[in-house]
Amino acid sequence: MSEPLIRQATVRDINELVELEKLSFISDKITKRQFKYLINQGKARILLAELDGKAIGYAILLTPVTSKRSRLYSIAVKSAFRSRGIGRAILCRVIGVAAALEYEELSLEVRKADLHTIKIYVEGGFRVVKELPSYYEDGADGLRMVRSLSREDLESFRSRQSFLGRLLFPRKLL
Ligand SMILES: CC(C)(COP(=O)(O)OP(=O)(O)OC[C@H]1O[C@@H](n2cnc3c(N)ncnc32)[C@H](O)[C@@H]1OP(=O)(O)O)[C@@H](O)C(=O)NCCC(=O)NCCS
Repeated sequence: MSEPLIRQATVRDINELVELEKLSFISDKITKRQFKYLINQGKARILLAELDGKAIGYAILLTPVTSKRSRLYSIAVKSAFRSRGIGRAILCRVIGVAAALEYEELSLEVRKADLHTIKIYVEGGFRVVKELPSYYEDGADGLRMVRSLSREDLESFRSRQSFLGRLLFPRKLL
């Protein structure tokens, strides 16, 4: 398998983003209109992972102007491409982008029952800071997790194949 390319999404990618969203989530799905708003308002960075020119994953980083905390709003990888390190690689890139934008922290919400995904976040340096009862549209409980961003995250971002990056997610694609 060739290595995925992770780049910033544009309005031209919206249909593929909506498709990925539909395939990846059972509730709280982001609509085409919301994707358009997120891209056009400039208050978010959307990263798209492509393999051989086809979209296989994405992440949305919310970048508020008045806060030192950025937020990973959504992350997904097409089911056929999961468990190959692509989710971790996207997460690593999100951490780097947030650090490069000089945020001090990165937060996210995750379903409390989604232990597989929570494991990836804990490995990526996130810690649980809050329980969120009935947080999701379908009534499921959530957790808020937060990670501090450091100079090392920025340096890791600047040299993608860096030693620090490999330390963060040792066995996986970066
Ligand atoms: C969460 C998600 C982005 C991870 O993407 P990914 O490309 O599979 O991630 P990676 O390959 O980097 O990591 C795989 C790890 O995920 C975990 N995992 C995720 N789903 C799993 C599953 N169905 N079965 C087993 N392990 C799973 C495992 O811990 C695995 O670790 P391992 O390979 O060391 O065993 C992907 O599962 C996804 O799109 N899920 C649906 C959308 C979603 O729930 N997003 C999170 C919102 S908070």
